[in-house]
Amino acid sequence: MLRRLHADQPSAFAFTPANQAWAEAQMTKFPEGRQASAVIPLLWRAQEQEGWLTRPAIEAVADLLGMAYIRVLEVATFYFMFQLQPVGQIAHFQICGTTTCMICGAEDLVSICKEKIASKPHVVSGDGKFSWEEVECLGACANAPMVQIGKDYYEDLTAEKFAALIDDLAAGKVPTPGSQTGRYAAEPAMGLTSLQDHEAGKAAFNASVQLAVDLGDTVKRIDGSEVPLLTPWLGKAAKAKATPKTKAKAAPKAKTAKAKETK
Ligand code: FES
Repeated sequence: MLRRLHADQPSAFAFTPANQAWAEAQMTKFPEGRQASAVIPLLWRAQEQEGWLTRPAIEAVADLLGMAYIRVLEVATFYFMFQLQPVGQIAHFQICGTTTCMICGAEDLVSICKEKIASKPHVVSGDGKFSWEEVECLGACANAPMVQIGKDYYEDLTAEKFAALIDDLAAGKVPTPGSQTGRYAAEPAMGLTSLQDHEAGKAAFNASVQLAVDLGDTVKRIDGSEVPLLTPWLGKAAKAKATPKTKAKAAPKAKTAKAKETK
């Protein structure tokens, strides 16, 4: 599929101060002169901030990394995870349409998107709130059919449940991600058949759902203030610099002198 920049572009892009600090920290992960290696995380953060990748954002990332614009454009157009056109203000839905999800009802979910959002993928709904696309397997096949909304997976969906999710998001609610039938993870739908002692005392949600619940917003645009900026590798580098290298043992002079005397 030919992927081009969208015809309508904003005039400028700037990372938020916290995202700028995060981006500069990512660049320090790589040896001097190899900062281009940070291109994907920086493009991804730009998309997380804006919802999609604009031309000014691509150019800003190129400037930051000292790369030619065309090199960054090549990366942005190659990977389908980068949205090159505007997405819904509230959410962009990614419907898995691969085999397992298709057998379990993905086509019904696509029909809901066509009915409630737009008849074609990558088109923003009339009210500007939503957009959708069909994607390849997202790796949650045991919980098919599923949809990625923002950062999280919504699994074990039916057309009715998915329609209700869209309505909730439109109403400003944040539905709990994970299985929509109450499955903890990817255990059999009828319950555990082995390792049943793990049932007792487990937390209400699995780790990824718990993280989403703790953050409180699965579709929030990322401004960098969500979690503290951690750069443990910088601490290690500074420590290594501050610690003097162990000096090589000096040659035992007296012994050398004595050895000379005996010659
Ligand atoms: S087939 Fe849909 S997640 Fe794998």
